[in-house]
Amino acid sequence: LPAHKTCISGKYPGSDVERLTVPEDKVSWSVPWEEYDPKDYTSEKLKTADYADPEISDPKFQPQWNANDGPLDRRSHMGNYEIADKMPRNPCGRTGIRGRGRLGRWGVNHAADPIVTRWKTDKHGNMCYNSHDDNPVAQVVLIQRSSGDWAFPGGMVDPGESFEETAEREFCEETLDGTGFLHLGPSSKDYEENKKLIEKYMKKGVEVYRGYVDDPRNTDNAWMETVAITFHDPNGNTFSKLKLVAGSDAKAVGWKDVSKDMSLYANHKDILHRVAKRLQAHW
Ligand code: RP5
Ligand code: MG
Ligand code: MG
Repeated sequence: LPAHKTCISGKYPGSDVERLTVPEDKVSWSVPWEEYDPKDYTSEKLKTADYADPEISDPKFQPQWNANDGPLDRRSHMGNYEIADKMPRNPCGRTGIRGRGRLGRWGVNHAADPIVTRWKTDKHGNMCYNSHDDNPVAQVVLIQRSSGDWAFPGGMVDPGESFEETAEREFCEETLDGTGFLHLGPSSKDYEENKKLIEKYMKKGVEVYRGYVDDPRNTDNAWMETVAITFHDPNGNTFSKLKLVAGSDAKAVGWKDVSKDMSLYANHKDILHRVAKRLQAHW
């Protein structure tokens, strides 16, 4: 299982609640830690949020753990998780905080991440190569989250939605001003035509990662998982033509040069490294 690092110490994002610091050698549940008694924190906002589960103590709440629960998928990509004291337990270990934090679901919170890439070109349209490794430089569409971190324009899976559908919807919402269909340039005549274009571009995605996200919002009882799907514009004729406009979830959006020097949200850099290898791009 992946090691988590961004969710084992410090303040819980968007709150004043301090995590109990979990030393790296005590992250695993299999290492005994009798005095381990972290704070319990669930954001007040979740009480009225329609996308969120009820409180675990609510008698009407009868979740089907490790299973499809109606249209909701409560299965983890990493196999069955344990239920301890009626609550699902983070399969990657302790986080120094109990409850759900800001995450809507108890247990696994499913997301999908679209990773849209192109080749970097100079003003004459020639591909740019890195002078050290002679590999072509790729660029990726990233958004700036409200925390200031740059990240893939991903988001949560709606009940009943496939990962592919989520990736496409979130790409439109976060990088194409919510509609995605109005900014395709002069060749596109109307909404339906543009919609078909986006759907076409996003048909040939390749899954590069499926599993845990080392997200700072993770807790002992709620955690993020994603399916990351990559889409490449080989000749500058598809995604490169889109006019990127930051959606409501994003502060900024842009094409960024792919390299090992980037600093990205959660473990998005590790996922992007897989994409760079696939493309045989500079890293
Ligand atoms: C990350 O949070 C996922 O990889 C995805 O990018 C994102 C989904 O959460 P929101 O953008 O909806 O906050 O863990
Ligand atoms: Mg979103
Ligand atoms: Mg998002």
